[in-house]
Amino acid sequence: MAGEGRPRTLFPMCGIVGYVGQKQALEIVVAGLRRLEYRGYDSAGVAVISDGELIVRKKAGKLANLETLLGSDPMPDSTTGIGHTRWATHGGPTDSNAHPHVSENGQVAVIHNGIIENFSELRDELTSAGVTLTSETDTEVVAHLLAAALPESDGDLAEAMRRTCRRLEGAFTLVAVDRRNPDLVVAARRNSPLVVGVGVGENFLASDVAAFVDHTRDALELGQDQVVAMTAASVVITDFAGEVVEATPFHVDWDTAAAEKGGYDLFMLKEIAEQPKAVADSLRGRISKDHRIQLDETHLDEGILRSINKVVVIACGTAAYAGMVAKYAIEHWTRLPVEVELASEFRYRDPIVGPDSLVIAISQSGETMDTLMALRHAKSQGARTLAICNTVGSTIPRESDAVLYTYAGPEIAVASTKAFLTQIIAAYLVGLYLAQVRGTMFEDEIRAVLQDLNDMPSKVDLVLDTTEPVRELARELSGSASVLFLGRHVGYPVALEGALKLKELAYMHAEGFAAGELKHGPIALIEEGVPVVVIVPSPRGRAVLHDKIVSNIQEVRARGALVVAIAEEGDEMIANYADHVIRIPAVPTLMQPLVAIVPLQIFACEMALAKGHDVDQPRNLAKSVTVE
Ligand code: F6R
Repeated sequence: MAGEGRPRTLFPMCGIVGYVGQKQALEIVVAGLRRLEYRGYDSAGVAVISDGELIVRKKAGKLANLETLLGSDPMPDSTTGIGHTRWATHGGPTDSNAHPHVSENGQVAVIHNGIIENFSELRDELTSAGVTLTSETDTEVVAHLLAAALPESDGDLAEAMRRTCRRLEGAFTLVAVDRRNPDLVVAARRNSPLVVGVGVGENFLASDVAAFVDHTRDALELGQDQVVAMTAASVVITDFAGEVVEATPFHVDWDTAAAEKGGYDLFMLKEIAEQPKAVADSLRGRISKDHRIQLDETHLDEGILRSINKVVVIACGTAAYAGMVAKYAIEHWTRLPVEVELASEFRYRDPIVGPDSLVIAISQSGETMDTLMALRHAKSQGARTLAICNTVGSTIPRESDAVLYTYAGPEIAVASTKAFLTQIIAAYLVGLYLAQVRGTMFEDEIRAVLQDLNDMPSKVDLVLDTTEPVRELARELSGSASVLFLGRHVGYPVALEGALKLKELAYMHAEGFAAGELKHGPIALIEEGVPVVVIVPSPRGRAVLHDKIVSNIQEVRARGALVVAIAEEGDEMIANYADHVIRIPAVPTLMQPLVAIVPLQIFACEMALAKGHDVDQPRNLAKSVTVE
């Protein structure tokens, strides 16, 4: 059996914060962790240095548990601190497995995001040297190695970190403090996110800029295999060999308010409401006055775009469904074949990609390990790569030949909403750009689609104006054991996404199907009262799609299904076939996913609320999945 005989491993995928400056480190670190809790919420911990002492508090469960502990067992004042919020894939989240981990001699504390793949050998080495390990984690190994490397590094924590990292295999962000260097925080990065926030008289480290955007919007991207040594006044970055390297500075273009709930009870509700703006922002500046797509920012080479003979989209979850929607449009506009592949499957099937392929990696976080690994495989095969991403400075865009950012702003709720819409927008822009460069559409055709896209923010707004019917329906159906979703054409990925939202938020069996596929098996699932949500194509566009879905509705209704139709204004006929009709604005076929998904997001959110679930942080999930 794989892994037999190995100690049980905890593979964290976590949020990390580090601070050194003049202010109370603990306050800053805990506030940062709150912003990063979306990355994991199985346990949390902090370490500060005060009067030459290293003090640690950590607790299993959500950050609130740690805060309670800090209330009953306060920490002393300190201007240097680190903090961690954890998501584990193996083993129970316990107090002892929570980070920070401290070396046996009590000198250094370490927090970690990622996997130390050779930790088992390192652990054996440490135990044979007489070190007693007190947790099941791979991280603790690093704490002991780092402490052991300090004397041979003349007490230089950054050098000890470099020495330690050279021995590590796997993916990791590590952040450490040393009680003998009270004004220093050191971190290392390989294949795992880490950004530096540059302040005045203070500096920050975090997995995501959201942790420090309250304090500074000036940041530095760290490259692969780099170590950063940070004091209140300086940031020095080296590679693992000790060569000083230049970091790329960037400015965070969203503010604190964007990462707060802004008056909403839930981040998810706020993010659903932000969708019109997110769509508008993602279009802005990308359409010239003479109605041409301008994507100069991406550095997409027109010659390459002319030479490619296929497009491959790699992505996971919601991002993959956005890719599936885009496939219909890009194939239609460019006549190029578009494959959409789940990133986690891509490199294991020996995909046919090469210099003639444009591989588009879609990722909100830019850190999803499955997508990153698929991207690297595509690059190794010589493919041209483009990232569609929402997180500036993250790994996937950094490693792609070109990048088109979505401007959704920070997405904090674990369930993706506004990212989905903006990913579709960005992929559509890429499709239209390809069509423009390759001459597969006339200028006026492109102009008409651009007009449709420009109309979308106000159409999404219209959906948001009337959410009560769908919320009421969600409450009514919250006792259902299962909900099925049907769609055709671009409505099919919408059905998949609607089902995914319901699974992750309401913990309910939900499945999306291509409506025509139902009769090939899944229709056996239909029994009296099973809710079936149907995304109804416009009767105006390709009427055949509408006719076919009406037949599919009749098939399930005849078997007792309770049909909820998501149908456009003016489609009066549908009322004859459905038990409930949720109205969306009439838009062209390819635009329909942008409005049709919105009631499904609200449906899932309301259903979760009705069942008393934590909408922003559903169980077992994390926002940024940095393990494969
Ligand atoms: C679902 C959801 C996930 C993500 C997926 C990819 O609501 O959020 O399915 O879409 O984990 O994440 P990114 O886009 O960050 O690569």
